[in-house]
Amino acid sequence: MSVKQLFDLTGHVALVTGGSRGLGLQMAEALGEMGAKLAITARKADELAQARAHLEGLGYEVETVVNDLSKFDQIPALVDQVLARFGTIDILVNNAGATWGAKAEDYPDAAWHKVMDLNVNAPFFLSREVGKRCMIPNGRGSIIVTASVAGLKGTPPGMNTIGYNTSKAAAIHFARTLASEWGHYGIRVNAICPGFFPSKLANGLIEKLGDSLVTRTPLRRIGGDEDLKGAVVFLASEASRHITGQALVVDGGASII
Ligand SMILES: NC(=O)c1ccc[n+]([C@@H]2O[C@H](COP(=O)([O-])OP(=O)(O)OC[C@H]3O[C@@H](n4cnc5c(N)ncnc54)[C@H](OP(=O)(O)O)[C@@H]3O)[C@@H](O)[C@H]2O)c1
Repeated sequence: MSVKQLFDLTGHVALVTGGSRGLGLQMAEALGEMGAKLAITARKADELAQARAHLEGLGYEVETVVNDLSKFDQIPALVDQVLARFGTIDILVNNAGATWGAKAEDYPDAAWHKVMDLNVNAPFFLSREVGKRCMIPNGRGSIIVTASVAGLKGTPPGMNTIGYNTSKAAAIHFARTLASEWGHYGIRVNAICPGFFPSKLANGLIEKLGDSLVTRTPLRRIGGDEDLKGAVVFLASEASRHITGQALVVDGGASII
């Protein structure tokens, strides 16, 4: 197989949660460009419709699923809809995520549960559903979870995101553990750990931390509109066929210092 063929995703079906904007949309663009059929999910129908129009405009096949992933009982119906359109799921990108800023001593119970439900519980329930119904019977699949550098190391005092950081460390270990359990089925599970990328979720913090973000990053930049594309295509495709249970950091080197 040529290297180009190793990266090719023609005919593969990719489900990207939180694919309506931000990092999820960027990763959907990349998977579509390499030939994957795309199913994207989010709660807001209008943003999903815009994302769909954008992706279809680029020539990709797209299904949208309006779904609140914190309502776990709706996960089978989400998968039903993707299977009705595309027949199977080969690539699952567990990307939808949320954060909450509050001092640990004041952190509301509801905020803790909201962050854990979306960032930790939903990826497990959805991966289990897709694994049982598609990837285990098919004997192949790539599951990717969008974790974060916040799951790898401590964050500067004042960020006040204990729920988020804890959830992202869990996401990395989720990838390792599921990779170990499902490797024999031919299913790979990896995490991507982005540093700071402008998005609805991160813009407030990026503004708060200001220039220091750039000056303390070895590559002197924060993430941009194309910076996750290579990572997601690599982990989704045969190019990474011997790689599982890993956390791929995409942060301009910020976490190495
Ligand atoms: N941006 C960064 O700097 C950065 C860094 C590291 C990791 N990450 C991670 O990257 C992922 C994407 O974040 P982003 O920065 O792209 O943020 P974003 O622009 O806020 O996108 C979040 C996506 O998740 C969806 N979503 C939120 N709550 C949901 C729910 N309950 N059910 C279903 N979908 C839901 C949103 O759509 P709706 O609101 O319509 O539901 C949206 O599509 C997250 O896991 C985040 O933790 C981001």
